[in-house]
Amino acid sequence: MKSDKIVINGGKPLRGRIEVRGAKNLATKAMVAALLAESPSVLRDVPDISDVGVVTGMLEAYGVSVTTTAEGELTFDPSNVEKAHFSKIDALAGSSRIPILFCGPLLHRLGEALIPDLGGCRIGDRPIDFHLDALRAFGAVVDKSYEGIRLTAPNGLSGAEIELPYPSVGATEQVLLTAVRAKGVTELKNAAIEPEIMDLIAILQKMGAIINVEPNRVIFIEGVDKLEGYNHRALFDRNEAASWASAALATEGDIFVGGAKQAELMNFLNIFRKVGGAFDIHEDGIRFYHPGGELKPVVVETDVHPGFMTDWQQPLIVALTKAQGISVVHETVYENRFGFTDALIEMGADIVVHKDGLESVTRRVPRRPLEQAAVITGPTKLHGADIRVPDLRGGFSHLIAALTAEGQSTISNVGIISRGYEHFIDKLRALGADFVYEG
Ligand code: EPU
Repeated sequence: MKSDKIVINGGKPLRGRIEVRGAKNLATKAMVAALLAESPSVLRDVPDISDVGVVTGMLEAYGVSVTTTAEGELTFDPSNVEKAHFSKIDALAGSSRIPILFCGPLLHRLGEALIPDLGGCRIGDRPIDFHLDALRAFGAVVDKSYEGIRLTAPNGLSGAEIELPYPSVGATEQVLLTAVRAKGVTELKNAAIEPEIMDLIAILQKMGAIINVEPNRVIFIEGVDKLEGYNHRALFDRNEAASWASAALATEGDIFVGGAKQAELMNFLNIFRKVGGAFDIHEDGIRFYHPGGELKPVVVETDVHPGFMTDWQQPLIVALTKAQGISVVHETVYENRFGFTDALIEMGADIVVHKDGLESVTRRVPRRPLEQAAVITGPTKLHGADIRVPDLRGGFSHLIAALTAEGQSTISNVGIISRGYEHFIDKLRALGADFVYEG
C-alpha cells in the first residue's frame, strides 16, 4: 500500500457483504510451524495482509521457499533451511512480533536463533520475559547483545515443566512450537486457550505432534523426532469479523460477514446483542445489523479466552458513543490500549480514561495490576477530524468513527490497518462508504 491517507465523508450506513479469510493471529504462526517440518506445508485461506508479507520475508531469509500455489494458498518448502543474514531479518522484525516465535523452530533446525528488536503495535510494554524463561526451561542459553537476542542450545532442547505467570498467547505458542520437537514431555500450566491456539495445535497434530489439552489450562506435549508438512485451512479472523460487526452497529448499517462463525464469537455476540445489535447466523457467515431503536450501554472487561477479547474493545467503543447512557470498558490485557480514544474525544465523544482502573467496578478475575478503564457517556454525535492512526485495532475504530461522523475526516497512517485487515479499502467500497483513498 503506497499512500497512507483516506478522506471519509461520514454519515452513511455501511451495507453489503464482505468476506473474512484466515486469522492474522493464526496464519502467521502456522507459517512459522512450517519451519519445523521435513516436507512442504500448504496453508489455505491466507489473508493478503502485510503481517503475512513480513513472515514470508522472514521464512525466505531462512531459506524456506514460499510459493503462492492458488488464490489465498501458500506452500512452504523447508528443505533448505539456512542461517539468515542479520540485516535481512532486522529489517523485517521491526514491524512485527512474530519473529520471537522463530526461536524454538530455529534452535531445532539450526542450533541457534538471533532475534532482533521486535515491532508490533505500541499498546503497552509488550515484554518477552515469558518467552525467554520458557526457552531457558527447555535448555536454551540466552545472550543479549546490541543486535538483539542470541539463543543457542548446546545440549539440545528437552521437555520441561513450565507455568506461565499469565496465559499469554505468544508464550503459549512459543512453548508449543518448541516442545513438539524437544526430547521428552513438556507440561505447560496456565496456557492460553484462544481458538487460534487450538487451530495451531490442530496443525501441529497434522504434522505428527502429540499434544493433549487438559482441563484448567494445562497442556501436555510429548516431543517427537520428526514432523512432516501439513495441509490446513486457517481459522477465520474473528477479530476482523467483530470489527465489521461493530462498524455495522455504529453506522446503523447491515453487514453480512462471509466466513464468520458463531462458536469463536460467542462472547462478542452476547455483548453485541446487549448493546442493541442484531445478528443472524448462517451456514456461510453472520449478518450483523442495527435493528433500529436506541443502543444500550454495557459494562465489559477484556480478558483472555473465553473472555471478551482485547482486540474487540476498540471498534465496539465507537458504537458505545451512540448508546444511551454510561458504558465502562475495562482493559485488563494490555496496559496502554486506550490511546485511540484521544481521537474519538477530539471528534466529540465523551470518554474518560482512568489509568488505574475503577475500583468501584468489581472485576471477575482480579488478575493483573495494569488494568485501565474507559468510561463512555452517550449518546454523542461525532464530527469529522484529522486523525493519525496509532495502531491496528485503534486505527480501524478511527475508520468507523469517521464513517459515523458528520462531515469530512482525513485519516493518515492508514497503512498500519493493512497489517491485519485484508483489502479493507475494497471492502469499504463494497459496503458503500463515501471516501477518497489516496493510493
Ligand atoms: N506479556 C508479558 N511477558 C511476555 C509476554 C506477554 O508480560 O513475555 C504480557 C503482555 O505485555 C500483555 C499480556 O501478557 O500485557 C498478554 O500478551 P500476549 O502474549 O497474550 O499477547 P501477544 O501474543 O503478544 C497476541 C496477538 C494480539 C492480541 C493478544 C491477546 C498476535 C500476533 N498478537 O499478542 O493481537 O491482542 O494476543 O489476545 O497474535 C492484534 O491483532 O492487533 C494484536 C495486538
